[in-house]
Amino acid sequence: MDNEMSNANDTVRSDKNHVWHHLVQHKPFEQTDPLVIVEGKGMRVKDINGREYLDAVSGGVWTVNVGYGRDRIANAVRDQLVRMCYFANTAGNVPGAQFAEKLIEKMPGMSRVYYSNSGSEANEKAYKMVRQISSLYHDGNRHKIIYRDRDYHGTTIGALSSTGQFERKEQYGPFVPGFVEIPHCCCYRCPFGKAYGSCEIECAQALEETLLREGPDTVGAVVLEPVTAGGGVIPPVPEYLPMISDICRKYGVLLHIDEVVCGLGRTGKWFGYQHYGIQPDIVTMAKGVASGYAAISCTVTTEAVFDRFKANPDERLHYFRDISTFGGCTAGPVAALENLRIIQEEKLLENVTEMGEYILQRLHALQEKYSLIGDVRGKGLFVGMELVKDRQSREPVEESVPMRIAADCTKQGVLIGRTNRSFRKHNNTIALSPALIATRDDLDEIVTALDVALGNL
Ligand SMILES: Cc1ncc(COP(=O)(O)O)c(C=O)c1O
Repeated sequence: MDNEMSNANDTVRSDKNHVWHHLVQHKPFEQTDPLVIVEGKGMRVKDINGREYLDAVSGGVWTVNVGYGRDRIANAVRDQLVRMCYFANTAGNVPGAQFAEKLIEKMPGMSRVYYSNSGSEANEKAYKMVRQISSLYHDGNRHKIIYRDRDYHGTTIGALSSTGQFERKEQYGPFVPGFVEIPHCCCYRCPFGKAYGSCEIECAQALEETLLREGPDTVGAVVLEPVTAGGGVIPPVPEYLPMISDICRKYGVLLHIDEVVCGLGRTGKWFGYQHYGIQPDIVTMAKGVASGYAAISCTVTTEAVFDRFKANPDERLHYFRDISTFGGCTAGPVAALENLRIIQEEKLLENVTEMGEYILQRLHALQEKYSLIGDVRGKGLFVGMELVKDRQSREPVEESVPMRIAADCTKQGVLIGRTNRSFRKHNNTIALSPALIATRDDLDEIVTALDVALGNL
């Protein structure tokens, strides 16, 4: 056995003996090996056995927005780390200051960047801000946070408490009080039995009804994904977010947009909410901020939100008394700075818009071929295909069907995504989120793999 092979075997053995993988039932690894990824360049990754794959999900969970193997990000991180790797964010650091300024330039109306290191944590920070504002200015009454069915906001108990995915939450309760759910906004499965064009956007109106039911003076914020991601890739209709924003303004409720997936270009604008002409009060982001080259997340607020925490300097507890140890790592902001420059210099937003239209068109053509495809939807390089047993009844397929399609695509050398143990019934969406650099040829290869896999069912 040559050296490389024996190293590979050792690695797989160490992995199987000691690594606890995310979201995975490990029993099958008694018979088979886990996928171990060792290299990546552009849109492609290689596993430990030398097999190459086209990655249609940017690192499995829509993260590596600018693609693999970017020397300039790695070099910038290296240079920064040898100079100054870490100091708690009670103090400033150079890339943190520079990235905050560049980021805010892309977010008119926003002003302050709070660093931490995961999407869940960024959302927790936002929830703490909302609760502290409630405590400081509303006698603690406005502590409730409204979230939406099918949205996901993270894995920590607070973030999970604000998540609208039954199976994701199952067995992890009890949850944190004060989180209230509103219906989702997926037209294909309209919770109100209506059709877009002849409806009154009841899904947005539901926010006002919920506020009135709960008592508007008890609600501090609404948290929403601009396009629901893991819940089935659900872009709202154009009227939805402006209506939500108006209702928030009417009742003095903060609007928190979770851009953990959509942020930094995924949908063809810097941020998903920017398609809808709204002005949030809080925006959270993670994954694509540094494309996975370093861990970083941001909770971005308006100056008005920020001001509330410095209005009373004489009061001992009147400031945001929160810390994230790794929010002081400089690798995150320095990687994020290069990542942002790449998106800008390579005109990746334009590419996303053009390629996003192309892939939607290709998937709609596939829908004509396979009656199994009930709905195709998306925004930019972020698309979903909902699979049904029957187009008339829209009965979702069993979860095993997208699992088989994904396994077949993997065999063909294309990695795709799918909704995964999130719902009781609706784990039936295939999800694609290739890197923002995807070309027509890449997208053709992805669609061909799907076509073959659907034909093999
Ligand atoms: C919309 C959204 N928010 C928050 C999170 C949580 O991010 P993290 O896994 O970095 O904690 C995710 C992760 O998938 C997400 O999709």
